[in-house]
Order: sequence, then structure tokens, then C-alpha cells
Amino acid sequence: MNYLVANWKSNKTLAEVKIWFESLNLTRVDPEQIQLIVCPPAPFLLDVADSIHRQKLPIKLGIQDISPFPFGAYTGAITAGMVAEWVDFAIVGHSERRRYFSESNQDVDKKISEALKENITPIVCIDEPYLQSQLQTIEKSNHTKIMVAYEPVSAIGSGNPDTPKHADQIGERVKKILDNRTPVLYGGSVNQENLGYYLNQTHINGALIGGASLDPQEFSMLVNSISK
Ligand code: PGA
Repeated sequence: MNYLVANWKSNKTLAEVKIWFESLNLTRVDPEQIQLIVCPPAPFLLDVADSIHRQKLPIKLGIQDISPFPFGAYTGAITAGMVAEWVDFAIVGHSERRRYFSESNQDVDKKISEALKENITPIVCIDEPYLQSQLQTIEKSNHTKIMVAYEPVSAIGSGNPDTPKHADQIGERVKKILDNRTPVLYGGSVNQENLGYYLNQTHINGALIGGASLDPQEFSMLVNSISK
């Protein structure tokens, strides 16, 4: 199984979300082989869930971040319990969250626990220089319940992706530290041209796609290119 996660980040208006779904043109997705996950900005989760349902699309819904806290007096925070009805995945610890919102490994750990309590699978983002420390705080009992996304900061949004071979080596290290069954995704300037090379690697089980997921035609072509 390969996981393709579209991360729209802080982009799109509601009108643009609607156009994205109207223009999406997935021709050959085998849900046994490819799991598509779309992570829109939180205000659009319900609209996206509705579009997926109405168009009977083979897409699961993800959220780009989740509160490290349960329900309670935490102004502005979106808890796992609020979205669990629609959401199956949550990106946690994205390097942009760590950098611009000062999130620590401890925060990421709490988010993992909160997501798992609601049966939401955390997609935990890590980078090579901190790989050991970012992984070692994750509770052992959660190692097979999460997915990991290896995202080199220099590759994100830069058009300068890591090599598939090196990504594979990182995938192997992650699986050694966590569990061989833990899916490892690669993220950072993935596009239609290079996606297949990453998916062909032994220790890579999918991709986290930012820029190339924003345009519905581009994203459709990317998905169709690897669908058999
Ligand atoms: P990118 O972003 O595909 O635009 O490089 C990936 C990510 O940050 O998830």
C-alpha cells in the first residue's frame, strides 16, 4: 500500500476548494494499492468531507495539525475529539509547525496521544539531523500505530528534493528504530516526475505532497501516473 498525502497548508478559499473537487480527474485509483489522503485547512474539513462523499471519491480526510490537549479551556485549539467523525489522519510535527509555532518533541508526543485516543492515525514529520531525538520520545506502544514522514527542510517547497536512494536509507533507519511495519513517507518537492522513484524504494511507503497537490489537474496527473 502506498499513501499519498496532499497537504494544502494555509492555502485556498472555500470557492477554490470547490473548484479543486470539480476539476479533480482521477481515472484509475485502486484503493487496494493507493490510499489518497487530503489535508485541507481545518475550516474546510466539513466541505471536503461532503465533496468526497457526494463524488464517491477514494479519498480519506486528514487534518494538518491537532491540539496536544483534550476538550477544555484551550482557546483556539482543535481537539481530536472534535474532528474524529470525519478525519482519519493528522499531520503532526510538520517542520513549519516546529519552526513557526515553536512546537517541541513533547508537544508532538501529546498530539500523537490525543489523535490515537480518537483513532486518528498521526503522520509524524521528522528530519534527518534530529531523527533520533524526534523518534525516541514516541512511546513504544505507539510505534506501529503511526506513520512517519521524512521531510528534509531544504527540500520543502524548494524544487530541490532529496534523492530517492537517500530517502530510502532514512526510511530504513526509521523502521529500525520504530518498527518494520511503520509506514514511512517521503516529503519535499515531490512532483509527477519524481514520485515514482520514491515509491519504488524498499523502505518508502508513500509521499507527502505540498505544492503539487494545490492544482487539481496537476494532482490528478500525479496520482494517475502511478496508478496501475
Ligand atoms: P512541498 O511540501 O511538496 O511543497 O515541498 C511538502 C510538505 O511540506 O509537506
